[in-house]
Amino acid sequence: MDFKPSICFVASEIYPFSKTGGLADVMGVLPLTLHQMGYDVSVITPLYGRIATSEFSPNLVYEDLNVGYPWPDISADIFRASFYGMPVYFIDRGEYFDRRYYYCTYKGDYFDNCERFIFFCRAAMALMKKMGTAPDIVHSHDWHAALMNSYIYYQKRVDSFWADTSTVFTIHNLAFQGRFSVRLFWDCGLPYEAWNPDGVEYYDSFNLLKGGIAHADVVTTVSPSYAGEIVTAEFGCGLEGILQQKSDNLVGILNGADYNVWNPAQDKFLEANYSAENPEGKKVCKADLIASLCLPERLVERPVLGFIGRLRSQKGIDLLLDIIPDLVRKDVGLVVLGEGDAEYEAQLVNLVELYPDHVSGIVGYTEEMAHKIQAGADIFLMPSRYEPCGLTQMYSLRFGTPPIATAVGGLKDTITPYPNKDANGFIFNEPTSSGLLESIEEALEVFNNPIEWEELKLRGMRTDFSWVNSAKIYIETYRKMKEPVVKGIVSAVTK
Ligand code: ADP
Ligand code: GLC
Repeated sequence: MDFKPSICFVASEIYPFSKTGGLADVMGVLPLTLHQMGYDVSVITPLYGRIATSEFSPNLVYEDLNVGYPWPDISADIFRASFYGMPVYFIDRGEYFDRRYYYCTYKGDYFDNCERFIFFCRAAMALMKKMGTAPDIVHSHDWHAALMNSYIYYQKRVDSFWADTSTVFTIHNLAFQGRFSVRLFWDCGLPYEAWNPDGVEYYDSFNLLKGGIAHADVVTTVSPSYAGEIVTAEFGCGLEGILQQKSDNLVGILNGADYNVWNPAQDKFLEANYSAENPEGKKVCKADLIASLCLPERLVERPVLGFIGRLRSQKGIDLLLDIIPDLVRKDVGLVVLGEGDAEYEAQLVNLVELYPDHVSGIVGYTEEMAHKIQAGADIFLMPSRYEPCGLTQMYSLRFGTPPIATAVGGLKDTITPYPNKDANGFIFNEPTSSGLLESIEEALEVFNNPIEWEELKLRGMRTDFSWVNSAKIYIETYRKMKEPVVKGIVSAVTK
């Protein structure tokens, strides 16, 4: 019989319990997909103050579990929820996690983020010990959970409990590294030897993500193209060197889309449901979006563009803001949903005031509005400067809202650009305002040809990014790690 490893995921967000972006979406579906494939899977995550779900309300399972950081007798309470049968463990320590925001306020990052996530990882280690069996695989995500890899790497040497545990570390965004002062390294619980340029040290700073890369058995990232990009100076955010060293054990596995959540055929937020087989409802959703944002009704007859995302330079929001006057001259509608840099938020608000008959901008985020825009817009904009995978373009494809995106990372891996015969969207090469505008002009020409547009749209709606395909590649990766002595584990899986 096939060996089925037990897998414990450690991550700072999981939808629907917590979310600031795509990491939460991935954590809300990948572990569950593996659980539904018959694997023994659990998730460990912080109990944020805003954990919202009466449906899966967590119960206290361990009280006062000793964590031993930042002082010897500090403890966490552990809650557990059954998420469609899969256990999700929540680390509760109010002063660290019960806050209005997850990582930062408008004034900047929380001053104690390093302490918070050292505490989180140490609590996750303590919880696994408390439960008595070490998982075969600990699969951690992004800088918040990166220390899991470093802890297990060194604990293995001194504690036989961890002897058979292997580690996988997934990078969702290399730009967020968790870099802190050396001062915070000294009592984090790693041995002195971890402080070196092949470990957690990065030019005299304590770099949690770097430690994750250095100490994990396998490093994955969320698309094949991004895996190729991050070993270059252009996209490597200063970590290209260590990623190159790791290249035998570095793999890009494309994210999937959760069609239980992002599917216009069964979406509870929408005014009407629709699908590739029965696409009429999209018109109702467009009219509803326009009405609910108090845009002029006549825009129903005009192309409406949508943007959903963090208002940051990564997402190329500045490129879009620059061309809003051009779009208005073309008499197209634009709906923007997001929050982020104060400067972009202010520009957006100004442009909405200038062009109220064409532009609607919502500074903030709600799931409901994200779904309504996915369904109600005609064209989805994603002019990212880099994009590890990107989920919103996969969702927009399913919602019949062809994406216009830059030729980077996962956008390249998920969009087949016009004029290919099997095109489902539009791609432009250089992340510039003029590149974006030209690509929009190209899309508008196709939009004006209803037959061609309908075909492009339906091809997008039928493009399938179900998670099960990606989950199988994770399984293969985990299995290979457990085979006796494989040099270049990932090479063995993918080559
Ligand atoms: P990223 O993770 O880089 O933001 P993705 O495309 O992978 O980009 O995932 C975005 C997910 O986060 C989608 O579900 C999208 O609707 C949602 N989202 C976009 N902007 C925000 C925001 N400001 N706050 C919370 N979620 C957001
Ligand atoms: C990150 C990336 C995004 C990716 C998401 C989920 O937030 O910016 O491209 O889709 O993680 O992996």
